[in-house]
Amino acid sequence: MAWPARPRCDHTPAWGALRSHHDAHFKPGPGSDGFSLRDAFATDAQRFERFSQSAPHLFADLSKGLIDATAEALLLELAEQCAVASHRDAMFAGAQVNTTEQRAAMHWLLRTPRHAPVPADLQADLASVHSTLDAFLACAERVRADAAITDVVNIGIGGSDLGPHMAVRALERHTSPGRRFHFVSNQDPDELTSVLRQLQPERTLFLVASKSFTTLETMGNARAAKAWFEAAGGSDIARHFVGLTSQPQLAQAFGIHTTFDFADWVGGRYSLWSAIGLSLAIAIGEAGFRAMLAGAHAMDRHFAEAPLARNLPVRLGLLDVWYRNFHGFTHRSMAPYSSALQQLPLYLQQLEMESNGKGVGTDGARLPYATSAVVWGQPGTNGQHAYFQMLHQGADRVPVEFIAVRQPPPNLPDHHRQLLGNALAQAQALMQGRTGADGHHHCPGNRPSNFLVLDDLTPASLGALIALYEHRVFVAGSVWGINSFDQFGVELGKQLAQDIGPRWDSGNTQDLDPSTAGLLRHLLATHG
Ligand code: F6P
Repeated sequence: MAWPARPRCDHTPAWGALRSHHDAHFKPGPGSDGFSLRDAFATDAQRFERFSQSAPHLFADLSKGLIDATAEALLLELAEQCAVASHRDAMFAGAQVNTTEQRAAMHWLLRTPRHAPVPADLQADLASVHSTLDAFLACAERVRADAAITDVVNIGIGGSDLGPHMAVRALERHTSPGRRFHFVSNQDPDELTSVLRQLQPERTLFLVASKSFTTLETMGNARAAKAWFEAAGGSDIARHFVGLTSQPQLAQAFGIHTTFDFADWVGGRYSLWSAIGLSLAIAIGEAGFRAMLAGAHAMDRHFAEAPLARNLPVRLGLLDVWYRNFHGFTHRSMAPYSSALQQLPLYLQQLEMESNGKGVGTDGARLPYATSAVVWGQPGTNGQHAYFQMLHQGADRVPVEFIAVRQPPPNLPDHHRQLLGNALAQAQALMQGRTGADGHHHCPGNRPSNFLVLDDLTPASLGALIALYEHRVFVAGSVWGINSFDQFGVELGKQLAQDIGPRWDSGNTQDLDPSTAGLLRHLLATHG
């Protein structure tokens, strides 16, 4: 399926209108913030309702954002003029929206129900998705029934680590007890060693997760794990090693014969829903995994069908564009008020920055406007006692995204209420500020935040939340006219690392820049 040619966002009438509107109503001037959130609430009794909405499994309040009704209307015009909806429809029709790699981006198909209507040319893909899903979920259930396996080790990096790692930690409450989950991603020997120290080969299942099955860190760790397993007397590789990859022949060549594969149209950072999620499926079981897929599918339908003005991924993606290109905000801080969501900021760093950290349009021409913000954070209550000082009184304005869970966990409900109270209070403080007796006590306020509330922290709501972020990234990338599905920028460093490899033995520093050569000599001396 082709989609209409899309104009560059900064060439649209809406872009110019947004620029004028920003300069007239939002641009800070001497002694003025340009736009006052306090005034905005005072003059619009409907502001909360206007800028908040429900979406599957969650509620979002965007009313503490530096945005007004005119800006939102213009952003929706921008989306229309950039044909974001046809671009979205093209993705859901299986078109090759990953234009630089000539591939579709069909992570959404991984959570499409078996009998859901899909275009005729995707029916075979959907059938194959479900036969692999059935197979790896059956494997997960076998492992869950096997009391001898007490430790599951996922060896993978980037998208082959961050998604399952984040979700296993997030859904710990839904995990049956008696089994430990380890994630080894870094090639730092300390990481694998500290995990292996806790393991017995006969009680361990290694999942080697790598879409390409060539990633240096993963292959190095997988080789070391296999050598440890064999040296410790383990022999049944078929029982203790499973490959999760779109290159099963490479896993076989590596000596792993139990594999679950997925198609190359699943991007690494979009692969949690595929066999890459096996560790999660073992943790929460087949029913839990299917519930997560259903939650994500509900968000897919919301994104595909809700009118743009009440479409949460669209509103969030457009807000990201507004903040980045008109307000000039360079960062967004993530503040999940849930320790179970501690890995979420790390997961989002790859999803957002690897997808939208691009400087050229789909035609390869340099873009004159900014794209992805820097995304960072940690559980909010910890952040409060670390960097929130800077968020309240520092020189930069950093939009904050709060995520809270409405339903209390089974234990310590008072703690949960205090936690939520803290989240509300921080968002309030950022917005309202405080007129201090002196400069030191003064909090300027007028600092924007979004507030997302999950109904509960369940497989379904987590699935919906992650799909929401995937689609929000798509929307911003679509407006910016970039390819959100490639990642050529990470390849150069990998190539250079291959060049440095042999120099450890030869000590040859020829053709290296003076800094790299000097560092290599220094490191070699340390090694010697
Ligand atoms: O470092 C970039 C990257 O290609 C990511 O996009 C990917 O998630 C990660 O490496 C791991 O790749 P693989 O799953 O092929 O090992």
